[in-house]
Amino acid sequence: MTDFIEVDGVEKVFDVRRKTGFLRRERTQVRAVDSLSFTVGRGEMVGYIGPNGAGKSTTIKMLTGILTPSGGRLRVAGIDPARERTRLAHRIGVVFGQRTTLWWDLPLIDSYRLMHRMYRIPDARYAANLDRLVELLGLADLLDRPVRQLSLGQRMRGDIAAALLHDPDVLYLDEPTIGLDVVSKAKVRDFLRELNAERGTTVLLTTHDLQDIEQLCKRVMVIDHGRMMYDGPLAGLHEAGESERVLVVDLERELPPIDAGAPARVVRVEGPRQWLAFPASASAAPLVARIAAEYPLVDLSVREPDIETVIAEMLRSLGDGRGAGNTGGTPKPPPDRATA
Ligand SMILES: Nc1ncnc2c1ncn2[C@@H]1O[C@H](COP(=O)(O)OP(=O)(O)OP(=O)(O)O)[C@@H](O)[C@H]1O
Ligand SMILES: [Mg+2]
Repeated sequence: MTDFIEVDGVEKVFDVRRKTGFLRRERTQVRAVDSLSFTVGRGEMVGYIGPNGAGKSTTIKMLTGILTPSGGRLRVAGIDPARERTRLAHRIGVVFGQRTTLWWDLPLIDSYRLMHRMYRIPDARYAANLDRLVELLGLADLLDRPVRQLSLGQRMRGDIAAALLHDPDVLYLDEPTIGLDVVSKAKVRDFLRELNAERGTTVLLTTHDLQDIEQLCKRVMVIDHGRMMYDGPLAGLHEAGESERVLVVDLERELPPIDAGAPARVVRVEGPRQWLAFPASASAAPLVARIAAEYPLVDLSVREPDIETVIAEMLRSLGDGRGAGNTGGTPKPPPDRATA
């Protein structure tokens, strides 16, 4: 696989002026991205996660050329984003979940017509892409409505279509499912999976929803304080942080705590309902089979840990010096804060 995105020792330092008192201002620097290096191959779909303020959006802005790095080297499709932003624009699509690129007061279709012109998309290709995106994203009834009248989920689908009208090779998604309900999230995920499988579009996905990653990305990168903390498969991240999933079991009647065998253990009992924690990296199947065979089972469900918990666990385990073990991923050592 050829490297499509190359990030090599990239830094981003922001100068910020802080008011520290009456007529007193202090200039400080925020190191939003700190010696960051990674590559993404063509056609890969990679999750890019980390706590608030970790530097995710800053990275994406540098990869689009909106922000210029303070140091290091960046290439997307062989192009230096900051130096050739316009040329790069034809190769990339961007969706910022918190903002829209659509014209607020215009009908949705007018935004698309404007992009048709702006990107100089050949007419036949524009028409074919529009048809396909309208169908896949369910936009047919929305095209004549002003964007400001759309619901959040509708607008997000509209934004995703806008980012793809010019057939970009890479799509950056910065929290595309934020604030969406379960059904809308599922629609967006289905679409992205199909886009990646059929067109081979390279996708870099930032999200605070672990299920987005679980359902879409084989590989996940975790960033904290601007530094890469982990790069590898999601299962490895679970192992690194020793995070747990919870099996919620409804029995026919109230019973003493279930003996499911290590490593599963009952963490809560409420009448006929019991909660069993087990390592997130393990399969639930043997546990479920055992409980079903030995207990009067009515119903059960598995609860996933949320992304914040998984990341916090992993960062804590790295900080403890226990390391992340041999997970197949590449847990990075804790950053040296002495220089900060
Ligand atoms: N234009 C700016 N000027 C000054 N500081 C900035 C600027 N943009 C970002 N920062 C700072 O850089 C750091 C990284 O911000 P960034 O938006 O990249 O985080 P993030 O990982 O996207 O977080 P979130 O999950 O909250 O979206 C933060 O400390 C933020 O305050
Ligand atoms: Mg962000």
